[in-house]
Amino acid sequence: MNSVFDEKCILSPSLISVCDLCNLESSVKALERGGIRMLHVDILDGHFSPSMPLGLDTVKALRKKTEIPFDCHVMASSNDFFVGELVDLGAEQILFHLEPEPHVDRMINYLHEHNVRAGVALKPGTDLSTLNYVLDKCDAILLMMINPGFAQCKNEGQASYMDRKVRELHEMIERRGLPTKVVLDGRISKKNMEDYGPQGIADIFVAGSTCIDKKDLENSAADLVQWREELLKNS
Ligand code: DX5
Ligand code: ZN
Repeated sequence: MNSVFDEKCILSPSLISVCDLCNLESSVKALERGGIRMLHVDILDGHFSPSMPLGLDTVKALRKKTEIPFDCHVMASSNDFFVGELVDLGAEQILFHLEPEPHVDRMINYLHEHNVRAGVALKPGTDLSTLNYVLDKCDAILLMMINPGFAQCKNEGQASYMDRKVRELHEMIERRGLPTKVVLDGRISKKNMEDYGPQGIADIFVAGSTCIDKKDLENSAADLVQWREELLKNS
């Protein structure tokens, strides 16, 4: 079955970064009118990293207002509760951080048993070797380009070694002939999309403060959607 997850250079705007948290439904509708077809939903527990912008009940309420696929990113010291709730509310993809998870393999199995796309997320400094045994089971791997939870800090930028890491992950996936998608998250720019999108080095781009203007959400999203179409046409 054709799914938006199989497309090239998918735009997945970061809800906590571009939406108005007091008017979530209207923000998401504005993104949809702009042509956006996936939403990146960050869940932070305030412990894994020091911020907690969004609660599960809010995500549950939003799920009833839109059919846009939820690309969820769990940043929690203990995943079980958050992952379980996201499964129950109908998330399409759930990526949890590998670093705090004591039973990575079991968690991926649990998600697959519930027919949810599953995978792990890595902080910038986490070595790709940690993926060695689980990579083949993952539908997607999320690479944090910045330190998770610090998006509100203006001077938080992409780690200097990320280009090497993104390319090394792509090589690992290619070498094994896997369909695993690569999600890039944190200060994603048009340059990142140009460098990795058309060649399929990365697949899902979390569009946040660098490439969407939250004050003009619909137009800004529509411009980015148009720009992505041109990028793919000309490559
Ligand atoms: C980081 C989150 C990101 C982030 C992206 O804690 O996982 O989704 O909010 O936003 P920008 O692109 O603004 O860094
Ligand atoms: Zn995220």
